[in-house]
Amino acid sequence: EDRPREQWGTRAGFLLAAIGSAVGLGNIWRFPKEAYDNGGGAFMVPYLIALLSAGIPLLIFEYAVGHRHRASAPRSMRRLGRPAAFIGWWQVGICFFIATYYAVILAWSVRYIGFSTSKAWGDDPAAFFQNDFLHTADAPALLGAFVPGVLVPLIGVWIATLLVLALGVKRGIEKANKIFIPLLVVLFSILVVRALFLPGAGDGLNALFTPDWSAITDGSVWQAAYGQIFFSLSVGFGIMVTYSSYLKRKADLTGSALVAGFANSAFEILAGIGVFATLGFMALQAQVPVGEVVQGGTGLAFIAFPQVISELSGGSALFGVLFFGSLLIAGITSLMSIVEVIVSAIEDRTGLGRVPAVLAVGGLTAMVSIAFYPTENGLYILDTVDHFINSYGIVLAALVAILVAAVVLRKLPVLQRHVDAISSVRVGTLWQVLLGVVAPIMLVWMSVDSLIKEFSENYGGYSTSFLLAAGWGVAGLALFFGIGMSLVPDRNADGFTPGDP
Ligand code: PHE
Ligand code: NA
Repeated sequence: EDRPREQWGTRAGFLLAAIGSAVGLGNIWRFPKEAYDNGGGAFMVPYLIALLSAGIPLLIFEYAVGHRHRASAPRSMRRLGRPAAFIGWWQVGICFFIATYYAVILAWSVRYIGFSTSKAWGDDPAAFFQNDFLHTADAPALLGAFVPGVLVPLIGVWIATLLVLALGVKRGIEKANKIFIPLLVVLFSILVVRALFLPGAGDGLNALFTPDWSAITDGSVWQAAYGQIFFSLSVGFGIMVTYSSYLKRKADLTGSALVAGFANSAFEILAGIGVFATLGFMALQAQVPVGEVVQGGTGLAFIAFPQVISELSGGSALFGVLFFGSLLIAGITSLMSIVEVIVSAIEDRTGLGRVPAVLAVGGLTAMVSIAFYPTENGLYILDTVDHFINSYGIVLAALVAILVAAVVLRKLPVLQRHVDAISSVRVGTLWQVLLGVVAPIMLVWMSVDSLIKEFSENYGGYSTSFLLAAGWGVAGLALFFGIGMSLVPDRNADGFTPGDP
């Protein structure tokens, strides 16, 4: 028999934690550029369709699996059916690798909060980021000299994260999200309002939202929309299975999925407005069209924003603190959710208590993160692991999970009845069609296309041997870990009969 399971204190607490997990770096630095590159205002059409036709159905799937089987991702998947066991452990492996690098970006953000007050980057933020701050090596390798300026804040990020997890689901994760998410909304809203008053802001918004309707007939735009939704909702690697396993027996699953899904998208659009208002200002300063200053990812956060902060006359430090503070808060609530997948899997499997489980596996994750990333190779490894884990971890794991559940185990009808018995909005057979047909078609199409690209040229121009280790090796390791762990018997998993609610 299972030990009594921890539970969320309130529905709002669960919702805030689910939103905190979804809202992350992807909302702030990925969405704005994706939208701009893929039709601007017209991107909203495929984006909304992706949200409704695949994002929310997948979210409901994960909620249902976790809630019905009341266990961590591996045990829940195993209880869904023996052939699904490896998927849960695969997801744990994926979360392990994501956590190792996600924390590093948060450590950078911590440093940049400080840098904003002194404008430490001088007049060349790009050179400062790569050389003065990260001491990036000329060519990528796996091991390299430590960079203390990243090492120290990274240790801090890990201590804070593990401390919250050690406090438990209700007193740790829920409480942290109850503080952080409202704080994030306030800080980020101030930033957006400030950005809207910058000269050139209007041009930025025009650049983002002017619809290019021809994009609608472009297949790659639809792929981008589904890709953004899958990434942004963080579906497919067990986070929501884990979080919903801590819900009470009676819980409004579809209502929660709708709220979390739309809240995440609302935050994305808010970020798009803030980011493009700022880029409009940057373009005006440089006397170039907005299109020339558009970027996403680390370039946006650690090069473009510093540039803007330097160009602001008054209150520039505040602008920097608000921006990097928002990145940090948005990111740390996501990091907690990623590590919780690993911790809860180990708790279930070994019977360890929460604190020892956090120390053991959280500590191991932290150690790997600290050993490989705060070095002169950190930037290369991070970029590569991120690309491969996203393309061949998350997307593939989501696809396999759906196919095994729908085709091999034929469990969608059972899950649908489970969801409909307790939820405010009934999903009906429409959900089975969206999940079993629409989502897999998009996921297969995306995977095949990115595999073709992968073999036509080396990602990032990196050497094949580096990609074999930091890219394919990492993605493969997560999968092999999953298969290996699923072969170990788990008697606790087998002795469970899910009760209908
Ligand atoms: N969904 C998050 C975002 O939009 C990213 C994330 C990745 C969250 C991995 C959790 C785990 O930024
Ligand atoms: Na998100």
